[in-house]
Amino acid sequence: MRTTDTAPSAPGALPLIGHAGRLARDGLGFLEELRALGPVVRIRLGRTPVHVVNAPDLVQRMLVAGNGVEFDKGGPFFDQAAQLVGGGLSTSLAGPHRPMRAALRPVFTRHRLPHHTERFRDCALEVTSTWRSGQAVEPYTEMKHYAVAVLARTLFLAPEDRQAVEAVLRNVPVMLSALATHMMVPGSNRLPTPENLRNARATRETRAAVAAMVRRRMSDPTDHHDLMSALVPPDRPAAHTDQEVFDQVITFFIGGTETMASLLSWTLHLLSRHPRAYERLEAELDDVVGDRPVTHQDLSRLTYMRRVMNESLRLHPPVWLLSRVALVDTELGGHPLPAGAGLLFSPYALHRDPAVFADPERFDPDRWSEDRVDRRQREAFIPFGAGARRCIGDTFGLAEAQTALAVILGGWRIRPRPGGGPEPLLRMTMGPQGDRLVLDRRADRAPDGGAGVLPGE
Ligand code: HEM
Repeated sequence: MRTTDTAPSAPGALPLIGHAGRLARDGLGFLEELRALGPVVRIRLGRTPVHVVNAPDLVQRMLVAGNGVEFDKGGPFFDQAAQLVGGGLSTSLAGPHRPMRAALRPVFTRHRLPHHTERFRDCALEVTSTWRSGQAVEPYTEMKHYAVAVLARTLFLAPEDRQAVEAVLRNVPVMLSALATHMMVPGSNRLPTPENLRNARATRETRAAVAAMVRRRMSDPTDHHDLMSALVPPDRPAAHTDQEVFDQVITFFIGGTETMASLLSWTLHLLSRHPRAYERLEAELDDVVGDRPVTHQDLSRLTYMRRVMNESLRLHPPVWLLSRVALVDTELGGHPLPAGAGLLFSPYALHRDPAVFADPERFDPDRWSEDRVDRRQREAFIPFGAGARRCIGDTFGLAEAQTALAVILGGWRIRPRPGGGPEPLLRMTMGPQGDRLVLDRRADRAPDGGAGVLPGE
């Protein structure tokens, strides 16, 4: 196929860096401008041309029908992540991905959720037990502690793994922060910066901890029905090498930490600024859960909470930018693409398209009510991606977020601290930087969310 590039070019490319500076400086504004230029727009990152896909139907084609045939994981930003966890689920290519996903799927089946929900609740109570009335907290940091604790308690269930998991927990934030720098500043992974030295140490320690966990599990005949049992199956303990297990463990910590913290902290931020929605959600919680501990059965009845979370995910999708690569010569929206072409698409820009979402900047949870939501909105709403590479932790993550919100809002009232709102911090995920919320314990509630544990205040 001849591949004359017919997609319109974005203006403002600079010599050498192209649009990379603009993307790093004002990524969200830039992506929204690109959306206005057409369904497929060409930009340059350094010297490399990249196509940005803005039309929901074309994104769906790339992710669903075209996945593994015309398009695969790859493209800008991908290589850095692949360098850290090349063999993990998220960075594997279409061929090896399928059996890997099938092997890990059982860890996330629905019937495990009631049990997981109890752990979610314990972890949320643990985080909130350190809070004091009148205190201002940074929700993004608090919710990262929650997300990390949840992964440790739900994916690594053998009590003997505790020491190794603690080493992983200590080191993963160092590795994530270095990875974010490497993605934003190409070439920075090769410099002997203090961050890179810390990263090298953290990676070494984590490898050793995971290897110790693997060795122990290899001689453990029990199926703990957790991530480690899927990776080191008791009947085939040598199914995966230490390196493969390391890649998966880090992949799950990367996938499930900042995303969850971002969803929860943006949701708390939005509620603190929208008193009517807040009151309505509190009333729903009082009605469905009341004074007792929240259970898995409650979650499906918290329908307004789900709308609030959807609206939070629409306005502030934690994963704001994703990439793919064309496997073969193909086309999108009538524009030819050569094999190897890099593609970008942005859940953030798709979720704020005024052609799909009326009044897109408005926080309006009821746009997700059954009578208002339509097919085009569902197609454009991709906070968890779509198709075979859709987030494996989607249902788990939604239950995790709902449980945390039920515990937090059941026990506390939150209000914004006077001053400016948060700025989105653009890394692999998009967290609310600099947000502070003031907490007041709800006088009408037991301090432990009904769990029977009194935090020592
Ligand atoms: C609000 C929470 C979350 C959001 C917004 C989110 C978002 C996403 C997105 C957009 C993708 C697809 C990436 C792509 O197509 O290139 C993805 C994949 C993935 N997520 Fe999540 N995620 C969340 C929670 C979680 C949790 C809790 C876990 C783990 C327990 C997790 C683990 C993963 C993994 C392993 C993949 C790779 C799946 C594959 O390629 O088969 N995520 N996530």
